[in-house]
Amino acid sequence: MDPRVVLVTGGARGLGLASAREFAARGDEVYVAWRSENESSRALTSEFGANALRCDCEDEAAVRELVETVMAREGRLDVVVHAVGEYESGPLEALEPRTLRRLLSNNVESALLVARAARAALRASHGAVVFFACAGLEGLRAKREMAAYAAAKSALLVLARSLAQEEGRHGVRVNVVSPGMIPHPHAADDTFDPKLAAKIPLGRFGTPEEVAAAVAWLCSDDARYVTGANLEVGGGFTP
Ligand SMILES: NC(=O)c1ccc[n+]([C@@H]2O[C@H](COP(=O)([O-])OP(=O)(O)OC[C@H]3O[C@@H](n4cnc5c(N)ncnc54)[C@H](OP(=O)(O)O)[C@@H]3O)[C@@H](O)[C@H]2O)c1
Repeated sequence: MDPRVVLVTGGARGLGLASAREFAARGDEVYVAWRSENESSRALTSEFGANALRCDCEDEAAVRELVETVMAREGRLDVVVHAVGEYESGPLEALEPRTLRRLLSNNVESALLVARAARAALRASHGAVVFFACAGLEGLRAKREMAAYAAAKSALLVLARSLAQEEGRHGVRVNVVSPGMIPHPHAADDTFDPKLAAKIPLGRFGTPEEVAAAVAWLCSDDARYVTGANLEVGGGFTP
């Protein structure tokens, strides 16, 4: 079988990078999109070469150009993993409206832009999409210390499930992975809190590689009857 063509957006570090590496290890042709010029993007470019492409996923024209570039080079696109998703915590009384707008744009609007740009290509390949939400959002639960982030990820969950319903008849599967606390060198401080780690039923934090394995499974043929799902990868803990 020809290798699949996989696009990971927001993949310069953390869970996106681990996912990109997991697909590459499985023999797929992997493209990784990054936004900011920094140490992570330079390392990414040396690892993925010409398959590391710059793209701000909140810029509609840039996202369209990203997908066009992949299609021009490969002629197909089988999998999209959208790992973009900024985090911010703090009490709601201190939340600035501009912060809420930024989180909605970064977590939700970027997902819509990527889905729109990749729609035709994914329909042609009967492909798969994975978005990232956050463990513990089912049932629209209140989140005292991260209300704006939880609101944005909850909106993303609804968008993803709606997309799964719309795309199902075109043979495209859309799923969500919801990590728990997954520390990595650039993760938010909250993900390193030992008091929280003690409350995780599996007794430890997760690793980016464990999340990546779940992402890869959802995009594999083994999950061919799975769409509209929200797979929590959090060691059983609901933050
Ligand atoms: N790590 C966890 O414990 C955890 C838990 C629950 C959910 N999640 C979710 O899982 C996903 C990945 O998490 P992570 O910890 O790997 O996140 P991360 O360390 O913040 O990495 C996110 C990546 O996305 C890029 N990005 C941000 N905005 C972008 C944009 N507009 N266009 C293109 N790239 C953009 C960032 O690049 P820049 O260098 O430009 O900022 C960065 O490389 C996120 O959606 C996050 O909300 C993570």
